[in-house]
Amino acid sequence: MGSALPTANVHSPPEDHETKHQPMQIPMFPEVENLPNHGEVEPFRPQLLKWVGNKQRFAHEIISYFPKSYGVYFEPFLGSGAVVATLQPSRALASDISLPLMDIFTTLQTNPALLCHWYSERWHRMMNGEKKEVYLRIRAAFNESPNAADLVFISRSCYGGVIRYRRSDGHISTPVGAHKPIAPETFAERVQEWHKRTRFVDFRHIGYSKAMAMAQPGDLVYCDPPYQHSESVLYGAQSFRLDHLLECIKDCKERGVYVVLSIDGTKRSGDYICDLPIPDGLFEREVYVNVGRSMLKRFQMQGKSLEDHAVTDRLMLTY
Ligand SMILES: C[S@@+](CC[C@H](N)C(=O)[O-])C[C@H]1O[C@@H](n2cnc3c(N)ncnc32)[C@H](O)[C@@H]1O
Repeated sequence: MGSALPTANVHSPPEDHETKHQPMQIPMFPEVENLPNHGEVEPFRPQLLKWVGNKQRFAHEIISYFPKSYGVYFEPFLGSGAVVATLQPSRALASDISLPLMDIFTTLQTNPALLCHWYSERWHRMMNGEKKEVYLRIRAAFNESPNAADLVFISRSCYGGVIRYRRSDGHISTPVGAHKPIAPETFAERVQEWHKRTRFVDFRHIGYSKAMAMAQPGDLVYCDPPYQHSESVLYGAQSFRLDHLLECIKDCKERGVYVVLSIDGTKRSGDYICDLPIPDGLFEREVYVNVGRSMLKRFQMQGKSLEDHAVTDRLMLTY
């Protein structure tokens, strides 16, 4: 399935949108008033997918640091889509390097009933059979031929919601979770809500540099890249390089595009402090948002979690 999308041009707003996009007429970095804009977007909790680095619980907090007004919203590291679904933008381009993941989102948009069917059929298979065996068969089917239908169920039923890719062959290796996956009725309710919230989003299967190159002056890009220490295992994304992303952010800033970068902050456990090669002057300010416990840590500790593994997420703003 490809990205057959309803909105061919993200710079063509839907008719009911209030502000018109005005490329080149917006001055470079107009004054951003009253940061943060707390309270403007309500928290939105129900996750569609479980995903490493899922920002569902505090997406509204991240959004509160967005500029008061901007053109098109870009989210080039979409993952589970927590931020875009909380934001409900009227013009947006959301993308990710994972094709089966983007096929989930295009199906959410174009055929939500099919997405519900994919989940429900596998859920019933699992409930009527031996849980672990059914899960392993679904995982094997995905590894044989990566596809959205199996991925959506694996994300909801795998251990800790952490999809790990084996280095040797790129296959998903996560075992079955101890929990019972949410009922198809609950999943269907979420699909309905997410379908509504993302109706103006242009979903595309492209890498971040291609997506960011499309942003025009006055647009906003929110980047939530793979964790520095875990990207190849958790996303199968061997090619991610932070220094290249920082170059793309610099290009965006130079042409008047606002950029917000989420980056894993200080690990308070004392394991290591993330010391990132961020060029001087690229960002105008940074803020910390509280993200609770580290999912990665939790996985490595076989489900145990400790209070002192709290993670603070850093938001770097180019404005
Ligand atoms: C930390 S996750 C994003 C989590 C997301 N904010 C959420 O709330 O679920 C990072 C995402 O970047 C994607 N990714 C990795 N390399 C990429 C690339 N080169 N271009 C675009 N996306 C990439 C991964 O597939 C993964 O979904």
